[in-house]
Amino acid sequence: MPGDVTDRTAMRDLVELVEREHGPVALAFLNVGTYFPDSDDDIGGDGFRKTFAVNLDGTVNLIGPLVRAMKKRGRGQIAVNASVAGYGGLPQSIAYSASKSALIAMCEALKFDLDRLGITIQLVCPGFVKTPLTDKNDFPMPFLISVEEAGQRIVDGFQHGGFEIAFPKRMAWMLKLINMLPYPVYFWLVGKSTGR
Ligand SMILES: NC(=O)c1ccc[n+]([C@@H]2O[C@H](COP(=O)([O-])OP(=O)(O)OC[C@H]3O[C@@H](n4cnc5c(N)ncnc54)[C@H](OP(=O)(O)O)[C@@H]3O)[C@@H](O)[C@H]2O)c1
Repeated sequence: MPGDVTDRTAMRDLVELVEREHGPVALAFLNVGTYFPDSDDDIGGDGFRKTFAVNLDGTVNLIGPLVRAMKKRGRGQIAVNASVAGYGGLPQSIAYSASKSALIAMCEALKFDLDRLGITIQLVCPGFVKTPLTDKNDFPMPFLISVEEAGQRIVDGFQHGGFEIAFPKRMAWMLKLINMLPYPVYFWLVGKSTGR
C-alpha cells in the first residue's frame, strides 16, 4: 500500500487499513530512509530538512500507530533501520548521521517501555549496501555488500531477536570502537580514512 511517511495522518490511516484488510501486524520493519551528501552550505536547506522529515519523522509517524495497535494485543515486533552512520558524525552526512543517531537513541529509550508491553523493538544498523542510495556516493565504501546479503542478515536478525542487527560485523565493530576513542583521535582517524 503506497504512502508518504512524512504524512502523519496518512500513516495512521495506513496502519489501520493494513490491520483491517490483512489482520494484526506481527512484524513491522521501518526501512524508509533518504540520504543527500551534504556540506556546510546545505545546513537547514531542503535536502537537510527532507532527511529529518523522512528518516526521523517518517519513522515516528509509523511507530506511534503501530505501538498503539500492538499494545492492545500485548505482542508485536518492530525493527527500525538506522545505520552505522548513526554511531557518530561522519563527513558529508551531517543531516543523515544526526537523523540516524536520533533513531538509535529513540529505539534504546523505547526498549524500556516496549519490553514491559510485550513488544520487541530492534535496531538495524547496516554498513554500506549497494542500493540507489549509495550509488550516488563518489567516495570509497569499505566492506560494501549486496542487497541480498543485507536482506539475509536482517531476516536472520528478526528470527534471532537480539536488540541490534549490525552488519557487516567488521564495519560495525570498527565504528563502535572508533566512537569510544577520545574526540581528537576520532576526528583524526575519520578524517584520515575519508580524506577530509
Ligand atoms: N544503502 C546503504 O548503504 C544503507 C546503509 C545503512 C542504512 N541504510 C538505510 O536503509 C534504508 C533503505 O535504504 P536504501 O539503501 O534501500 O535506500 P533507497 O534505495 O534510496 O530506498 C529508499 C526507500 O525509501 C522510500 N522512501 C523515500 N522517501 C519516502 C517517503 N517520503 N515515503 C515513503 N517511502 C519513502 C523509497 O521509496 P520510493 O522508491 O518509492 O521513493 C525507497 O523504497 C534507509 O533507512 C537507509 O538509511 C542504507
